[in-house]
Amino acid sequence: MTRESVVSDEFARKFAAEKETPYTRWVRSEGLDILSSIYVSDLHTVELKRWTRRGGRGVFLNHDASRSTNDCYVCEIPPGGELNPQRQLYEEMIYVLDGRGSTAVWNDAGRRIAFEWKKGAMFAIPLNAWHQHFNGSGLEPARYVAVTNAPVVINAFGDLNFVFNTKYDFTDRFNGEPDYFAGKGEQRGLLLDTNFVADAINLPLIAARERGAGGGHIRFSMARGHMNSHISQFPIGTYKKAHAHGPGAHVIIMSGEGYTLMWPEGGEPRRYEWKEGSMIVPPNMWYHQHFNTGTIPARYLAFKAEGTSIRNAQGVPKAWISKRLGGDQIDYADEAPTIRQWFAEALARHGFQPRMEKAYEAELAELQQLGT
Ligand SMILES: [Fe+2]
Repeated sequence: MTRESVVSDEFARKFAAEKETPYTRWVRSEGLDILSSIYVSDLHTVELKRWTRRGGRGVFLNHDASRSTNDCYVCEIPPGGELNPQRQLYEEMIYVLDGRGSTAVWNDAGRRIAFEWKKGAMFAIPLNAWHQHFNGSGLEPARYVAVTNAPVVINAFGDLNFVFNTKYDFTDRFNGEPDYFAGKGEQRGLLLDTNFVADAINLPLIAARERGAGGGHIRFSMARGHMNSHISQFPIGTYKKAHAHGPGAHVIIMSGEGYTLMWPEGGEPRRYEWKEGSMIVPPNMWYHQHFNTGTIPARYLAFKAEGTSIRNAQGVPKAWISKRLGGDQIDYADEAPTIRQWFAEALARHGFQPRMEKAYEAELAELQQLGT
């Protein structure tokens, strides 16, 4: 049984005229494809096309509701080359998949800074700042994945000359500070304010038992922007609690191996295998649950937009709150027995056993305290 709200072609045709937007027309006019991406097995090898505006190669890998929130693209900088300079009235977060290089950022006031990066680095482009990426290798391409809020901005204004060619420095976002990309950070609760993380694969995390099984977590506010992102890690032999939220979380696997189950409310779970470089993009309000079946802790980066989080009146994302309390997270105690059975079987193939008992016990004690 599936519950994906699919209707007949005849029914869908009545709304076909509303499917195209200034944003989707823009991507096509760039000569690039938008691949509808619930799952990408390997971002390192996903096929790219020549992208004249950028001077490299690219592809868009957008979630199913990308007309309205955020988008995702992969871009490659040729060996010994650089992309064209660009400025844009939308925000952008970048994770480096392969290679090494540098980026120059400058504003109309003439302040220019540059920083170096390599595989595993993460940074954001300050709003409307000029920027240019350079490949640091003459032999190997450099490849990154980025998430932006271009759909919101392009659909709001339509005028591409305005979006890509407006002379204005947002000095509260970037004012040429020499140490802007020095990797400094201020931690406020789970949130780290920073503009550059040199090695996100090994960044220390903060304990977050609310998501289950001894996990580590950190959230980012980058380049003083409003798009959000987080890194999550979970130990060997464990899995996270299933939860659902709005569209636009692009979950990029940084290390480890395992699988994710995803399903719409009332539907059967589907299984997506992952390794370093895979990407999972849970559709709007689909439940999803990540399982570590590998020999090291599994870590992922989720690039999102605020619309992804559906919060309660206290500002807490409902994906962190038990369904028993009206949230959108399924407690271990309430999951289908097959979930545990499948996990045990997957681990057994590697000669392992689940290490979930402590997490189950801790959760039961908490649920008792809540009186749910
Ligand atoms: Fe999620």
